[in-house]
Amino acid sequence: MTVDADAPVYVAGHQGLVGSAICRALLRAGHNNVLVEDRRRLDLRRQDDVDQWFTQHQPKYVYLAAGTVGGIKANATRQAEFLYDNMMIHANVIEASRIHGVEKLLYLGSACVYPRQSPQPIPEQALLTGPLEPTNEGYSLAKIAGMRLCDFYRQQYGCRFVAAMPTNLYGPGDNFDPESSHVIPALIRRFHQAKLDGSNRIELWGSGSSTRDFMYVDDLADACLFLMQRFEGPGHINIGSGVEHSIAELAGLVRDVVYPDCQIDFSHDGLDGMPRRAIDASQLTQLGWQVATDLADGLKQTYDWYLGVDEDVRRRRKRLAVNLDAAANTGMEIAPTDVDLVENRSTVMSVGGRD
Ligand SMILES: NC(=O)c1ccc[n+]([C@@H]2O[C@H](COP(=O)([O-])OP(=O)(O)OC[C@H]3O[C@@H](n4cnc5c(N)ncnc54)[C@H](OP(=O)(O)O)[C@@H]3O)[C@@H](O)[C@H]2O)c1
Repeated sequence: MTVDADAPVYVAGHQGLVGSAICRALLRAGHNNVLVEDRRRLDLRRQDDVDQWFTQHQPKYVYLAAGTVGGIKANATRQAEFLYDNMMIHANVIEASRIHGVEKLLYLGSACVYPRQSPQPIPEQALLTGPLEPTNEGYSLAKIAGMRLCDFYRQQYGCRFVAAMPTNLYGPGDNFDPESSHVIPALIRRFHQAKLDGSNRIELWGSGSSTRDFMYVDDLADACLFLMQRFEGPGHINIGSGVEHSIAELAGLVRDVVYPDCQIDFSHDGLDGMPRRAIDASQLTQLGWQVATDLADGLKQTYDWYLGVDEDVRRRRKRLAVNLDAAANTGMEIAPTDVDLVENRSTVMSVGGRD
């Protein structure tokens, strides 16, 4: 299936890590009718508003990358919100896509849908085979419901709605907040701070032996466009790099990019987490998709992005809108620092609100 470059494509969650990368990928691929909407003008938890928006804009393709997303602490302490918000967002966008005849929808799930005790690397078949991680159960249940909705809508209504499960992501626009960031932005921040402080050692928790797979977010976006064209289900599909790195290797790579003179000490205090966690991406590679960015290159590009934006922008990373036309149409204010970061803004068609 070829997606027409003029077809209206809606990216829900366009200011997030994933959604903004999908917008960049669509622009690179020549799409010139990308629809986005600011959350302050369209709260996707509100069914009537979502329906009205679809009535007005009639997207033909939908990338569903919006949701209430957070780190371990946020997940554990706000389970009701994570379950409610995400169930509402998924159900509203999927149902509106059915009612308004969207040709195809790609739903972004998360590897946390898989049971705690899944085989490693985790195959698609592990879904619903055991208990979930309790600290993010609310979020996981909502993500599972969203992906099963895609399946059931395909079975019952013949909708071409598919679900993809990405592995751990990183890249431009990532969350560098010391309280809630994932391992890569946390390491970048720590090495960068050590360089600023002139201290040539940093201590990291654990032994560094546990392994994870990581994917550069622009590769993920490229995979999403590929799946929009090539994957029809049934079931969901994993998106992973297929390469595992130990935390010690990762720390060494980040050190080499950010502050090569720095020594790393591991505390060997037993704080290693699961010894191995990775996604089995063989179904995706069999379809013919390959990762383009190796970890060292991706880390360099992420650090370049980090250096190119000031602290305030990093904190407000979600305001790194992919277009400015939205501002013109909606009256939204965009700070000058955000303006500097916007890519290809003139080629994005964006939409304003309801008034
Ligand atoms: N990041 C990862 O490592 C990772 C890995 C695997 C899967 N995923 C999946 O990818 C998807 C996106 O994740 P992300 O990391 O890009 O998250 P993110 O950076 O937090 O972005 C989420 C986006 O959703 C929007 N949003 C939230 N609530 C909304 C609402 N009520 N109405 C309208 N828009 C709303 C946010 O808008 P604002 O910017 O205005 O708040 C933001 O643009 C999620 O489904 C997640 O499970 C992410």
